[in-house]
Amino acid sequence: MKREPERDPLSPPLQDAQGRTMTYLRLSVTDRCNFRCSYCSPASWGGKKDLLGPEEFERIVSVFARMGLRRVRLTGGEPLLRPDILDISRRISSVPGIEHVAITTNASHLERLAVPLREAGVSQLNISLDTLSEATFRSISRQGDFNATLRGIEAAVVAGYASLKLNVVVMRGVNDEEPPALVSWAHERGLVPRFIELMPFGQGTPVPTAEMVERLRASGLSLTLEEEDPGDMAGPARYWRAPGGKVGFISPLTQNFCGGCNRVRVASNGDLRSCLGGRSQAPLHALIRGGASDAELALSIRRALGEKPEGHRFTEPGNASTLLPMMGIGG
Ligand code: 5AD
Ligand code: SF4
Repeated sequence: MKREPERDPLSPPLQDAQGRTMTYLRLSVTDRCNFRCSYCSPASWGGKKDLLGPEEFERIVSVFARMGLRRVRLTGGEPLLRPDILDISRRISSVPGIEHVAITTNASHLERLAVPLREAGVSQLNISLDTLSEATFRSISRQGDFNATLRGIEAAVVAGYASLKLNVVVMRGVNDEEPPALVSWAHERGLVPRFIELMPFGQGTPVPTAEMVERLRASGLSLTLEEEDPGDMAGPARYWRAPGGKVGFISPLTQNFCGGCNRVRVASNGDLRSCLGGRSQAPLHALIRGGASDAELALSIRRALGEKPEGHRFTEPGNASTLLPMMGIGG
């Protein structure tokens, strides 16, 4: 029998079982959070020690970068709770091939960190803010400090980021009257507001995107759909143009965005999640601690994403429809 030619597992592209090229890595650096948002259920609320260190994140990112990934987003929990977040950011943004480093944050620690993070090479922030009312903020986040959050956002606005987005999860009867005010508030500060359909991980009732668009129009806002961005920067959000700037919508419930998914996820314990029904994973942390080479890491990443090292692809039926919608959230 003729053998397939050996292929360097580190050479790009990195593709999943559907042939989609992965360009974007979401790296959870902690599962701890100082908020307790009613709609969010992270793996743990705190207490556990973070497992991976800055050198290990750097190693993981450099393997992905050699395989062609260009963008990294640090997520949590709340990434800014890590005392070494500046070291992590600096190391990751210096990895050859990495062009953009972004962070998703609740802004509670941004007043102190907005400028140092920018200097550490972070160029984009996605900031979560669901309301402009202190009482509503309390009831959603349960223990967030509203004024510290607002000060954090103002600090980010003046720190010179290339892109600042404001993520708003809309819940019926909680903050669904607020989008017009949030759009003005965001645009006045040069932020792009994005309204997210609530996914059923916790409490609350979602509001469909189409209804949000209608309500914004009814409030007097003129909205026209933007051209689709075909580049690999395109995420699950769809953007509309308003007089003061862009307005985004992320619609995990009413629009399936998995078809254009270009992301790969690494959990805070170092496990790669291929998002293919959640079955295949690669324990990157355990592999690193076990002394795996870059090529061995790359091989297990490819396997977890469903691509055999020779380049064959799984043709298991049903794979395409089993991607978790959570893949696109917050980024
Ligand atoms: N539905 C929609 N978005 C969610 N997020 C967290 N939980 C949910 C949910 N149930 C997103 C929010 C938050 C970010 C950290 O994750 O955008 O700001
Ligand atoms: Fe923390 Fe974000 Fe979850 Fe709120 S949504 S609890 S800020 S991780």
